Amino acid sequence: MVDGENIFAQFKEHSVAEFFKKNQQMLGFSGKVRSLTTVVHEFVTNSIDACEEAGILPDIIVNLEELGEEHYRLTVQDNGPGIPKTHVGKALGQMLAGTKFHRYIQQRGQQGIGASGCCMFSYLTTGKPTKAASCYKGTKYELEVLIDFKSNKPLLNMLSESPTDQHGLTVTSEYKGVKHEQSNKGIFEYLRRTALANPHASITFMDPATGKISLPRSTETIPPKPFEIKPHPLGISPHDLLETSHHYSTEYRKLSSMLQNAFSRVSSGKVEELRRLVPDVDFDKNPAQLTWEDAEKVVKGFQQVKWIAPATDSLVPIGRAQIENSFRNIFSPELVIVTERSPKVYKGGIPFIVEAGIAYGGGIAAAGKQGEVMRFANKVPLLFDTSGCAITETVKNIDWNRYNLKNFDDEPIAVLVNLASVHIPYTGAGKQAVAAEEEVENEIRFAVMEAARGIQRYLSGKRKAHDIATRKKLVERYVEQLSSDLADLSGGKKEKIVKKLNEIIEDKYAKPGAEGDEDEVDDSTRDTKPETTDTGGDE
Ligand SMILES: Nc1ncnc2c1ncn2[C@@H]1O[C@H](COP(=O)(O)OP(=O)(O)O)[C@@H](O)[C@H]1O
Ligand SMILES: [Mg+2]
Repeated sequence: MVDGENIFAQFKEHSVAEFFKKNQQMLGFSGKVRSLTTVVHEFVTNSIDACEEAGILPDIIVNLEELGEEHYRLTVQDNGPGIPKTHVGKALGQMLAGTKFHRYIQQRGQQGIGASGCCMFSYLTTGKPTKAASCYKGTKYELEVLIDFKSNKPLLNMLSESPTDQHGLTVTSEYKGVKHEQSNKGIFEYLRRTALANPHASITFMDPATGKISLPRSTETIPPKPFEIKPHPLGISPHDLLETSHHYSTEYRKLSSMLQNAFSRVSSGKVEELRRLVPDVDFDKNPAQLTWEDAEKVVKGFQQVKWIAPATDSLVPIGRAQIENSFRNIFSPELVIVTERSPKVYKGGIPFIVEAGIAYGGGIAAAGKQGEVMRFANKVPLLFDTSGCAITETVKNIDWNRYNLKNFDDEPIAVLVNLASVHIPYTGAGKQAVAAEEEVENEIRFAVMEAARGIQRYLSGKRKAHDIATRKKLVERYVEQLSSDLADLSGGKKEKIVKKLNEIIEDKYAKPGAEGDEDEVDDSTRDTKPETTDTGGDE
């Protein structure tokens, strides 16, 4: 019995691995289909990230083997740089470990719990280790990895080491209690959307149900590499500032030079401004001597300075031409409209960009799609947690009536939204939904409304053409009778009158805009110029 007296006898520490063992659903391991798609998602995003980092055109092979009922073996192979022997254990068998968490760069992974989460899930459902073969700088290492839950440390069994001229990582793991199905939550749909947003990737899927499926690359051009930026002062908390100051205390002797080097857009001029705004902090002291109180004051000072916005050219969207291409290839729609917004900033200092595409009619209806929202974050498809996502909510809340679309859910329409950022505000560790950040929501709304205007123009043009044709037909019906009557009355030739009347009708209904004004087009989302321009001079 635990009573109030001895409850603290139960006081224990636990590791992050133990936490996620108990809360697997937070990593996306809930539901049989979702769990398997999550595993594929984690390994494939890692492969594309690794190739992007190394400037390699990704060749990814996803091999799923059915070993028994709800029992599968998954192998994901890439041609990336591989992982060095010193790090492969931590990369796959330690949670919150990786090369991405501390960096300010547009990447698919950001937390360091993807691969290790899968390794954990595999062990917890099958009792088996995850196998990896890493070809890195001329050597191939084969090993087995497990996580020690108590310490959140990898347990390694090195199997072999041999020379190789290949590069890349191959990870093999088994899962029980999972299901492979052809649905919009399944592996194929996930890979198809991945290919849509990453046209430079070649993806092969060995499907145990249907055989080999190839999603070849549609461009040989490697997209420009997103690059790392330094944090912007407006995104900094007192603790961030304190930590950064202490971190750089040996590198920079003065707080002023630390600020200029560790953050973006801090010039010597801005430091002078800060000195005036925060007179009781000594900007010449060693960064190690910065106190919490100092940090609070400096951060307050940050809020009063007019900063140049953070560099946004570090972001790489999918691109207008590519979205159009992909939509045409996948759906053969009647119409595609794509909008790319200019980059913006949320929470004061985090750059992001939103692009949206709408495909309408044609093959969309034929494919049975209605009111579909295809969500992407840093080019990664988001298939789950639909209703809690700012992208879905924003798209559904748009007044589609304004755009000649009666009911979004019943229209033959597919809306794609990609949010690219150095830090995506996910709602949870499973990274399937975007949080309701106001600036981000606004941009999503504007991007989709802008594209919707294109659809509106097209539909109202189509409707008008149809109306005109109907009216013309109606009038043409009277030509015969009217000409006879007129001929009788005037004694003129009926043929001549028919000809003249037809000319008048042709003339009247051929002129564009002849039948009244253009429909009013919603203009409320026009992109305004950013208030600040990027000169890049302060980086
Ligand atoms: N296919 C791969 N090729 C090269 N490095 C990889 C690969 N997969 C994982 N890694 C390395 O392992 C780390 C941990 O991966 P992961 O647990 O998925 O976390 P995250 O992707 O969020 O950083 C990555 O940061 C990366 O350094
Ligand atoms: Mg990852």
